[in-house]
Amino acid sequence: MILITGGAGYIGSHTVIELINAGYDIIVYDNFSNSSHEAIKRMEQIAGQPIKVVDADIKDKAKLRETFKNYSINAVIHFAGLKAVGESMQKPLKYYNNNISGSICLFEIMSEFGCKKIVFSSSATVYGEPRSLPISENFPLSATNPYGRSKLFIEDILRDIAISDNGWKILLLRYFNPVGAHTSALIGEDPNGIPNNLMPFISQVAVGKREYLSIFGDDYDTPDGTGVRDYIHVVDLAQGHLKALQKIDDIQGTVAVNLGTGKGYSVLDMVGAFEKASGKKISYKIVKRRLGDIAVCYANPSFAKEFLGWEAKLDLAKMCEDTWRWQSKNPKGYDTIHQA
Ligand code: NAD
Ligand code: UD1
Repeated sequence: MILITGGAGYIGSHTVIELINAGYDIIVYDNFSNSSHEAIKRMEQIAGQPIKVVDADIKDKAKLRETFKNYSINAVIHFAGLKAVGESMQKPLKYYNNNISGSICLFEIMSEFGCKKIVFSSSATVYGEPRSLPISENFPLSATNPYGRSKLFIEDILRDIAISDNGWKILLLRYFNPVGAHTSALIGEDPNGIPNNLMPFISQVAVGKREYLSIFGDDYDTPDGTGVRDYIHVVDLAQGHLKALQKIDDIQGTVAVNLGTGKGYSVLDMVGAFEKASGKKISYKIVKRRLGDIAVCYANPSFAKEFLGWEAKLDLAKMCEDTWRWQSKNPKGYDTIHQA
């Protein structure tokens, strides 16, 4: 049985589907602080089977212990965490408590039950401002905000755990920019309030929920002056987790792997691709740069291919089509009444 913390969230929900499709027995552990029970219902609809769920916090060690007692868990995929960079700067303690203290509780209970295999959701944010491109796993690590620092700290904790006990098998998956949705349009990204990230913002403009996109700067040293990122389809990303689980028995200690496509697209490229996929005009205004943004960020994905036998397959057109299908069929996200 695989325990999936944060399994009701955006990336977790897509990963649950890939794992069930591959025949894994899974259990979701989520406190629904940034997700909904409706997501679980829809995941069940896609999977064609009920999904076991523990509605609890990873900081609740009694509940974690009970879960490990009730199920024979042999590996964990650890998605649970808060992820809004801006909010982490306003409320650093909330982020450190939830992400770092929560992870420590989880790792303690795993140790207690001798469960020493974990796939951790890290982020390209741990590379800080990269000195060159594309970004490889051996680049220096740094953090520029409490969210990023929480990811880096959890990576460090896991590296220390592996040094202290060579029974641990730990995969640190560093995601680039996940976008897109399941092709069924039953599950997708459902941000609370005003989206911080580009793709959900663009899709809300397309659906008429927002008037225009603010593009944060057009004076970067990039071909069209707007920021460049490595967008990756969430289903590709989910399949990366499947490969990670299939590989985990072969490793010892910690291994970090980039999950990206290796291709960079600018904000204007994304606007153009989304207009094409949706047939909608995306109005935008150029505004000043967002504090803390870097100009360009894309992965060297070759280690993922060599080590996990995984590479991203879905292109930008598919990322935009699937985002649009999800957004247009669910204008209110999971609050949309769905007709099967
Ligand atoms: P998400 O917010 O959709 O999912 C996270 C899930 O964790 C939510 O369902 C939430 O309810 C749950 N959760 C949060 N704190 C919890 C706690 N204390 N106990 C139990 N459950 C808790 O986010 P996502 O986009 O699916 O991201 C998943 C992971 O990947 C996160 O750790 C995030 O930091 C990391 N990540 C995300 C991105 C991205 O752009 N989406 C990029 C890099 C890394
Ligand atoms: C965000 C996170 C980062 C995380 C990464 C991967 C922030 C500040 N950083 O970074 O920690 O690791 O996702 O998921 O949230 N843009 C606009 N207008 C908008 C929104 C974004 O022009 O309304 C631009 C940004 O300046 C950037 C690009 O679009 O050039 C992508 O932005 P975003 O989706 O927020 O991702 P990242 O900045 O890469």
